[in-house]
Amino acid sequence: MKRSARPSRREFLSAAVLAGFLITGCKPTGGGDTAGGPIKVGEFASLTGSEAAFGNASHNGTALAVEEINKAGGVLGRPIELLTEDNQSKQGESVTIVKKFLSRDGVVAVLGEVASGRSLEAAPVCQEARIPMISPSSTNPKVTEVGDHVFRVCFIDPFQGGLLADFARRTLKARRVAVLADVAAPYSTGLAEYFQKAFVAAGGEVVAEQKYASKDKDFRAQLTAIKAAEPDALFVPGYYTEAGLIVAQARQLGITLPIFGGDGWEAPELIQIAGQALENTFYSTHYSSEAADPKVQAFVKAYQARYDGQTPDAMAALGYDSAMVLAEAIRRAGSTEPSKLRDALAATRDFPCVTGKTTLDAGRNASKSAVILTVKDGKFKYVETIQP
Ligand code: PHE
Repeated sequence: MKRSARPSRREFLSAAVLAGFLITGCKPTGGGDTAGGPIKVGEFASLTGSEAAFGNASHNGTALAVEEINKAGGVLGRPIELLTEDNQSKQGESVTIVKKFLSRDGVVAVLGEVASGRSLEAAPVCQEARIPMISPSSTNPKVTEVGDHVFRVCFIDPFQGGLLADFARRTLKARRVAVLADVAAPYSTGLAEYFQKAFVAAGGEVVAEQKYASKDKDFRAQLTAIKAAEPDALFVPGYYTEAGLIVAQARQLGITLPIFGGDGWEAPELIQIAGQALENTFYSTHYSSEAADPKVQAFVKAYQARYDGQTPDAMAALGYDSAMVLAEAIRRAGSTEPSKLRDALAATRDFPCVTGKTTLDAGRNASKSAVILTVKDGKFKYVETIQP
């Protein structure tokens, strides 16, 4: 477990808060929170390792939101203190981090993660402790099904799988599709399943189903089998590292078909890995920085000013939105008491976010539009928006 924030300052703050608690004898208002001091929020993210692009983009968005909130006077007259920990994209680490947030740091809420698999690891810990957790961008439905303290600010994969099936039939005019999914990622197997259901219902046929596991590097055996099945298009519901290699190797094997994926493709690294091979590829995601919406353009400007001109992607936008939704709920709750905060989060309605108006439904999920992007001349390009 690596720390990305300065531990000395954090430990000092915890000690100061604890000292205040001992001296005044005032009761923590919830989750070990003490009135008057900073409101502590824990964020767990993949800042290093195979999905580092996800964690860093999401964290940058979250940190920018917290800075803006604090500049404007904080929430309930208190600043938010964001405690960020790196799970190194490794299984098991998220549980350790979140347990520490709850038992030692006394956070009032937890933000994370991008990858559904790691949100699924941490969610039971938050649920058990009855401390709200908000995933910015995990799309597998099971994440929020863990319990009534687990929320997300993005759409879910039955929607994403359905829109990709429709895109494949309608825009790519594909009837026969091959699927190559990552069996080690719940996100990937889930998205493959939802796509397949919708695609078959729309009159399509899945002519080859091949598998790989995260961290694999050679996909030629699966791709050779896929080529032999003569599909019209190839669906790769996985993360960018493997998706990039798959696209590159498919082209080397003479597979010139359209290849498409879901939001797991979203990272500048995709282009670094696959380069020119990405012509004739498409993927769905949560937002486009090219949208004319003034809220999007203000966010893009603030993000670029803060992070050396970098353009924020979907993870950055959802990371930002997750912190804003939390701050707004604390404001409405008028308290950081976990049960009040949980109820306020559950009551989130039409809250204006960078990724669109956010309403949390009875399943604690957000219903939002998706966008399809393609890659042209080594750059992501907006294709269309799909409404829920
Ligand atoms: N939705 C993916 C998952 O659930 C993560 C992701 C979100 C990836 C947004 C890219 C962009 O695992």
